[in-house]
Amino acid sequence: MNKKKKEFKFIDLFAGIGGFHIAMHENGGKCVFASEIDKFARQTYEANFKNISPELFENGNFNVDITDPQLDYNSIPDFDVLCAGFPCQAFSIAGYRKGFEDEKGRGNLFFNIFHVLDKKRPQAFILENVKNLKTHDSGRTYQVICSHLTSLGYGIKCSVLNSKDYGLHQNRERIFIIGIKNCWKGERIPLPTDSKILKFDQIESSLNKQNYSKILDFNFSEISKKNIYSFSEIKNINKKWIPVLINGERINYLNPPKKIQKYFQKFEDRNDWSNFIYNGKEGHFRRAVNYINGKIRGETNMFNWDQWGEDTWTDDGYNNIYQWRRKYVRRNTSGVAPTLTANMGTGGHNVPLIVCGELENGDKLIRKLTPEECFAIQGFNQDVINNISKVPITNGQKYKQAGNSVPVNVVKLITSKLISLI
Ligand SMILES: C[S@@+](CC[C@H](N)C(=O)[O-])C[C@H]1O[C@@H](n2cnc3c(N)ncnc32)[C@H](O)[C@@H]1O
Repeated sequence: MNKKKKEFKFIDLFAGIGGFHIAMHENGGKCVFASEIDKFARQTYEANFKNISPELFENGNFNVDITDPQLDYNSIPDFDVLCAGFPCQAFSIAGYRKGFEDEKGRGNLFFNIFHVLDKKRPQAFILENVKNLKTHDSGRTYQVICSHLTSLGYGIKCSVLNSKDYGLHQNRERIFIIGIKNCWKGERIPLPTDSKILKFDQIESSLNKQNYSKILDFNFSEISKKNIYSFSEIKNINKKWIPVLINGERINYLNPPKKIQKYFQKFEDRNDWSNFIYNGKEGHFRRAVNYINGKIRGETNMFNWDQWGEDTWTDDGYNNIYQWRRKYVRRNTSGVAPTLTANMGTGGHNVPLIVCGELENGDKLIRKLTPEECFAIQGFNQDVINNISKVPITNGQKYKQAGNSVPVNVVKLITSKLISLI
């Protein structure tokens, strides 16, 4: 018999396309309020959740701008868990000073989270940000965050987790901060001054000594790790060549390696492949294609072996994932994609690349991962991806949304542990 999931309510701030929403929903959560400012992300969010959380869109609880002075935080429906993957670029020491001066703290988006927590005092929260949040501004940013969260009575714990350790084909390190109400009995960490800045490990040790009860039971290292596969496993793929016509040209293509087929689509699944294939004729991409084909090997010695080296080109490339980094190509030999970023969709050329076939002359054919594949390696399931495919927005917007999102699998695991403690 299935154990009934504990029901709880949550809010989804800086909601993006709803990575948190999916993870919370799958753990028994009901979303009662969300906030997202970007009109394209809002379209995707609505497509993803209009069926599972219809009231959100009917009751005006899908807010546009969390900094809107008209929004009274007291009017947000009661909830148990606050989720927020707040934008990292908003953090600066100048920003938080402004935040302190401004009674409502509208100067910095973290303070919006802080004020919602202050007004609503939910049982728990999960915050997500880039890994270097801890070291940002010599640790002061992190210290400001910790001191504010603990001042509300939350015990907090924090860890940097890599998506590739949790069953996703992506190297994505993100910091997660969880908080549980009423288990912080320590002094509020003093706000930093220029002369007295605690290092983040000092903050952590003071937190750990004084925290007790539930927060001690939350151990990030207990969250089950699920490695994907080892390199030796994927070496023995069965090559299956199938001829296909692209833009009227006949080429031979290879389906993605078996082990990553789950994430990477087969050619016949879509008819706009030509948008994703590098034909080697487009400016700087020619260099990327030439690198991967080994044609400009050794042209420069500015690369280390990981990105460029003798061994790089001895394999056929079908198990690798590449990324063009402006001046060189980076590769991963175990099929793990580099960190997806929002600028994949805004002029950045760093969409991960895979070898997908061969031309008549034996050159490898290279293509970008599609936006759908990018959603998949953030942990979105096929149903959600199908929904997103139907949203009438550009591929550029989709890449941006995939790069901004939180890795769903990781949040799912954190949530199930967190919910058991509240
Ligand atoms: C790092 S992304 C978070 C993505 C989200 N966790 C997901 O799974 O898709 C931050 C989001 O905050 C949104 N945002 C920025 N300022 C905002 C504001 N003032 N009010 C609401 N949303 C905002 C951005 O548009 C962006 O989608």
